[in-house]
Amino acid sequence: MSDNADTPVSLKILLVDDEVNITKSLRRLLGQVDIYEVLIGNSGDEGLALIRENEDIGVIISDQRMPQMTGVEFLGKARKLVPDAIRILLTGYADIEASIAAINQGAVFRYLSKPWQDDELLATIAEAVEHYQLVSENKRLNALVSKQNAELQDWNSRLKQRVLDQTSQIRAKSESLAEKNQQLRSSFGETIEALSGLVGMRNRVDPSHSRNTAELVAAMAKAMDLSADEVRNYRSAALLHDIGKIGMADGLLSKTVDQLNHEELVEYQRHVVRGQTAIDPVLELRDLGPLIRHHHENYDGSGFPDGLAKEDIPLGARLIAVANSFEHRLHRFAEADARTEALKAMKQEWGSRLDPLLKKVLSAAAGEIFGQLEFSAEVVKRMVAPNEIAVGMQLLQDLHSGTGVLLLKRGTVFDVAGIDSIKRCFMIDPFDAKIAVLVERTED
Ligand SMILES: [Fe+2]
Repeated sequence: MSDNADTPVSLKILLVDDEVNITKSLRRLLGQVDIYEVLIGNSGDEGLALIRENEDIGVIISDQRMPQMTGVEFLGKARKLVPDAIRILLTGYADIEASIAAINQGAVFRYLSKPWQDDELLATIAEAVEHYQLVSENKRLNALVSKQNAELQDWNSRLKQRVLDQTSQIRAKSESLAEKNQQLRSSFGETIEALSGLVGMRNRVDPSHSRNTAELVAAMAKAMDLSADEVRNYRSAALLHDIGKIGMADGLLSKTVDQLNHEELVEYQRHVVRGQTAIDPVLELRDLGPLIRHHHENYDGSGFPDGLAKEDIPLGARLIAVANSFEHRLHRFAEADARTEALKAMKQEWGSRLDPLLKKVLSAAAGEIFGQLEFSAEVVKRMVAPNEIAVGMQLLQDLHSGTGVLLLKRGTVFDVAGIDSIKRCFMIDPFDAKIAVLVERTED
């Protein structure tokens, strides 16, 4: 230990003996070692008092034979005060047995007999000092390790808490962001529906054309396993595909394409570019622009406005073209087996106007959305006045108020509440007197 950097500068050694000669000669002897700082007590009580003042005493050497308190008694008491100090008993031959007993009881580290050999005594004390320093160093290191462990644990638990806090903050923020996004998305969806409603109000022939087209486009996109984003975008574009017609003159809107003269046709064809221009300032709608612009392109390149062909026409625009064509025909054939007739009537368009690869998905989607209105041997069509509507009748066409507000969707089966609301609407905003419905055939 002497060359250890941690060795203390000095080490306190306490000598206790009632014989002054002995303590003097021991002090002289121990004075040879630089690091020893020698304290002297002439009785057990003095020794204990010195210990109380110097708790860093490393080695205690005590004579056995002293008045009032023996060395073993004194060292026993010293042990209680400074348990780590190394205790050495100085004893004459007559007391050797008592000394050995004291060593065995653990009260004394070693004994030295009087008279002593200087070398032997110095070696024993050096050994005791080394022992004391080892124990002290060990204690110091243990304490250091425990302290560092405690700090590490504390740091770890604070780190863990911080990570937990930050995780929960991030989670809360992301939840509130998701909620806001959802609100934004749903209010955005409502805005698109409202815009589409405006388009519907301008279309006196079929106010629910855009809505029906959009449902069909969404069903086709789903049948093609497109992503949820694509389905949503294509549906929105279909809802707004004719938004460019809002500014068109009433006279033009009430005619079919075949009835238009050249100037009117040019004006009519502008609705696709106008539609794209109208929504372009709205960043969130901008991606829908090309789908609106190209919904009248033909698969063979003969359409407008840009004469695009085949896959150059965006898929969403091709889907809108297909649904658009089907929905117009469905309206025309509403009095019979509408779906089958509409599909039949489109036969010439596949490959010329429409993408032939979309034929199958149209059949599937049309069956899904309009399939419930198939005629059968048990069901027949009737034209009824509002006050004739009965529970169980099914609407054969979308029902609009006199001013063009959609009241009920095609396919709706009337219940008591539905009949009441239709009668109320008829009072406020009367519509064409007769309503086409499906009813169960009765034997008459
Ligand atoms: Fe159009």
